[in-house]
Amino acid sequence: MSYSRIVGTGSYLPARIMTNAELEARVDTSDSWIRDRTGIAERRIAADGECCSDLAIAAARDALDMAGMDPTDIDLVLVATCTPDHVFPSTACSVQRELGMREGTIAFDISAACSGFVYGLDVANRFLITGGAKRALVIGAETFSRIIDWNDRSTCVLFGDGAGAVVLELGEQPGILSTHLHADGQYKDLLKVDWGVGQGYEQLTAESGTVSMRGNEVFKVAVRTLGRIVDETLAANRLSKADVDWLVPHQANIRIIQATARKLGLPMERVVQTVQEHGNTSAASIPLALDTAVRDGRIRPGDLLLLEAFGGGFTWGSALIRY
Ligand code: ACO
Repeated sequence: MSYSRIVGTGSYLPARIMTNAELEARVDTSDSWIRDRTGIAERRIAADGECCSDLAIAAARDALDMAGMDPTDIDLVLVATCTPDHVFPSTACSVQRELGMREGTIAFDISAACSGFVYGLDVANRFLITGGAKRALVIGAETFSRIIDWNDRSTCVLFGDGAGAVVLELGEQPGILSTHLHADGQYKDLLKVDWGVGQGYEQLTAESGTVSMRGNEVFKVAVRTLGRIVDETLAANRLSKADVDWLVPHQANIRIIQATARKLGLPMERVVQTVQEHGNTSAASIPLALDTAVRDGRIRPGDLLLLEAFGGGFTWGSALIRY
C-alpha cells in the first residue's frame, strides 16, 4: 500500500509585527480583552506590495529546502487561499512560474477559507495515491490584512498574514492515514466577505469588501463541529484518543482549541499553539503551526498528528497523519 508522506515543511511570516497595543490605539479594544477572548498577543502584516504569492513562494522554498528537492521535482502545486493575488491566473500558477517549475506541472488554487489547507491535503493525497502525481506542494497562504475593516473591532483584532507549506511524496511507509472534508453552505451569513465579481465593481464598498462575522454564533458551531470530526477521524482509523501524539489545529481562537483538546483528553502541552503570535492566518495557520513544531523538534518521525480546521462556508475538515 502506498501513502502520501510529508517530507518537508516550511513557512513564512511578514516582518511587520502588529501588537494588541497598536490596535488599542486604533479601535475601542484592550490587550486584556483580546488575550482573554482569543489568546492573541500579536500578528504579522504583509508589507505594501507584498502579495499572497510572495508569501506562498517563500514558504514553498523553505519546505522544498527541508525536503532536499528542487522545484522541478514537483508535479502538483496547490495554494489554499481566500486572498489570492488576482481573480486569475491562480496564485498556484504564479508560484509555479516564479519557482521555475517544469512546464505542465499541475497548479490550481483551493478556496475553502480557514479549512483550505486541509482541503488541499485531501486533494493532493488523492492525486498521489491514484497515480496523478508523485510529488506535491501544498501551500496555505493569506494576506487577510487586505480584507479587514480596520475600524471594526469585532474582526480586526483576530486576523494576520502568513504562509505555510508541505511537500508530499508517495512512499510505502504510512503517512496521511485519512482525510475528512465537509461543508454546509446554509451558514453563509455568519462569516463572509460580501462582495464578489458577480455583483460588479460599482457595488464594491469598504464594508462589502471586508470580512464580516457573527463571531459568537461561529464559535458555537465551530466547537460542536470540531468535536464531531475528532470522533469521525479516530473511528475511521479504529484508533482511540490516547493514540494521538499532537493536535495541530486551525489557530482561530485559543478557547476553540482548548475545547477540542478537552474533547481529545489531550493536555495543552500536546497541542501546537501559534495563535498567540500569529493570530488567525486562515488557510495558512495549520501549516505554519506544523512547521513551527517540526522545526523546534516537538513533532518527531513516527508521531501521530491530528490536523483539524473550521472556516467560512462553513467548511471543516481533518487529517490524521503518521509523521
Ligand atoms: N474589544 C473589546 N470588546 C469587543 C471586541 C474587541 N475587539 N469585539 C467585540 N467586543 C464586545 C462586543 O461588542 C460585545 O459587547 P456587548 O456585550 O456590550 O454587546 C462583547 O465584546 C462580547 O462579544 P462576543 O462577540 O459575544 O464575544 P465572544 O466571547 O464571542 O468573542 C470572538 C468574540 C473572539 C470573535 C469569538 O466569538 C470567536 O473567536 N469566534 C469564532 C471565530 C472563528 O473561529 N472563526 C472561524 C474561522 S475564520 C475564517 O474562516 C475566515
